[in-house]
Amino acid sequence: MKIFVKMEIKINSKINKSTLIVPVFEQEDLKTKLLDVCKLIGFDQWSYFDDFKGKAKENCLFITSSGEKGYFLGLGKNREQAVIKNTFRSFFYTKKEKLNGTVRVLLSHENLEEFASSISNGIALANYNLGAQKKKEPSKSWFLENAILDFQTDLNNDTLIIEFEKGIALAKTQMKIMEWVDAPSNYKTPRMISDWIKESGKEYGFEVKIFDNNICVDLGLKALVAVGKGSVENPPIFVLMEYSHPEASKTIGLIGKGVTFDTGGVSLKPGDNMNYMKCDMGGAAAVVGAIEMAAKLKLMINIVAAVPLTENCIDSLAIKPGDVIGSYSGKTIEVINTDAEGRLILADALSYVKKNYNPDILIDLATLTGNCIQSLGYAAAALLSNNDDLANAILASGQKTGEKTWRMPLWDDYKDMMKSDVADIKNLSSAPVAGAITAAKFLEEFIDGHTSWAHLDIAGVAFGDSEYSSMKSATGYGVQLLVDFIENNIASNK
Ligand code: BES
Ligand code: MN
Ligand code: ZN
Repeated sequence: MKIFVKMEIKINSKINKSTLIVPVFEQEDLKTKLLDVCKLIGFDQWSYFDDFKGKAKENCLFITSSGEKGYFLGLGKNREQAVIKNTFRSFFYTKKEKLNGTVRVLLSHENLEEFASSISNGIALANYNLGAQKKKEPSKSWFLENAILDFQTDLNNDTLIIEFEKGIALAKTQMKIMEWVDAPSNYKTPRMISDWIKESGKEYGFEVKIFDNNICVDLGLKALVAVGKGSVENPPIFVLMEYSHPEASKTIGLIGKGVTFDTGGVSLKPGDNMNYMKCDMGGAAAVVGAIEMAAKLKLMINIVAAVPLTENCIDSLAIKPGDVIGSYSGKTIEVINTDAEGRLILADALSYVKKNYNPDILIDLATLTGNCIQSLGYAAAALLSNNDDLANAILASGQKTGEKTWRMPLWDDYKDMMKSDVADIKNLSSAPVAGAITAAKFLEEFIDGHTSWAHLDIAGVAFGDSEYSSMKSATGYGVQLLVDFIENNIASNK
């Protein structure tokens, strides 16, 4: 995708086969606004769009007096990053076959320059296509390869280009992780994912260590190894990543749940929709995406990231309900339900990172509980944290990027529900209530007193219904949230 930013708006330009996009906000006096824009672009038949309101994703076709095809594109009322991003993605996704040659986007009339990265991000994300496993691959991304995007604006500065490029770079990473989350489990075994992470590290400049099952046994990652026993053919792998910046003063630890398929194990899940449990490595994907972006953008931060990768299956050696297993921390765990596997592997990853790196901030992301979806639906991730400043910063990044989070309590009122008679803790609460919270209380036992920890339950937001597919599909949730959080809260705090 080539980007041009032009100083002046060209009127009646004779570029062959071009489409003009005129984004506008929904506003009181829209007609006057449109009239002004019409003058600018050489078009006077404004009465055609009498009923055009400028609502988000609304569009209206017109032909300029020079014969160029154009669309007014509604952006809704508020100047919101997420709405702008989604509107551009949706518009380009639906229209991509019809947009040939140059696409000119007018920016100045609405001062859209501040949203440059959201605009290019939305446009680039429109290239995402399911169907990687089809015999005939989906048509190669038209605009990532061929399009000339001509952003017409009064401003012409390098920062604008940098912002456009950032949006595209983000989209490329997001699409890669979406492809992994959407991939069937037989296309993304722990080994395949670890190979992918190694490649990403090589390409963008972060260190990757891959611990196979034997090393995990030696290291004492007992809970991860226990879950992995359900899958002799595709044993678990623990991947550790490190990105560092010479001027960074803070280290952030990121941990992502990487269950490449969750059958539930011996506590088998019902068959309906079990296919969607390929999404259970959405947390790991977000974490890899975030470290890849930090490296791409050379953010002034140190990151240590860990993703425990495993299937949750039912081989003859699989753990059974009632089993007591060990963990990296030394604590013993009574496995009440083998389907509560995510917290087991996260427990080891959290203790490992805390013990060996003790980062300033510790954040884990996981498609952890169905109860999170019961509580918050598909609009926000559950945020549980023992630190108000950290929680507020994550909430703010969520609002800004549209990858929203909502806080739930982590009070000790819930602690007793995880007490076991036979082990130090059990993996499932004794009452079928507050499942997202009790899962977090379980994790809290493994952070060894870390005082700046946040857990994000992304079960409802990593994978879901959208206008881009008929089945549920990956959203790429987490990458933008984490990058924004890092940029605003750490990278700047020298
Ligand atoms: N991976 C699931 C949680 C999940 C549910 C993710 C829906 C995405 C969409 C997790 O491992 C799980 O199975 N949780 C169970 C635990 C319960 C059986 C103890 C749940 O929440 O139902
Ligand atoms: Mn499960
Ligand atoms: Zn799971």
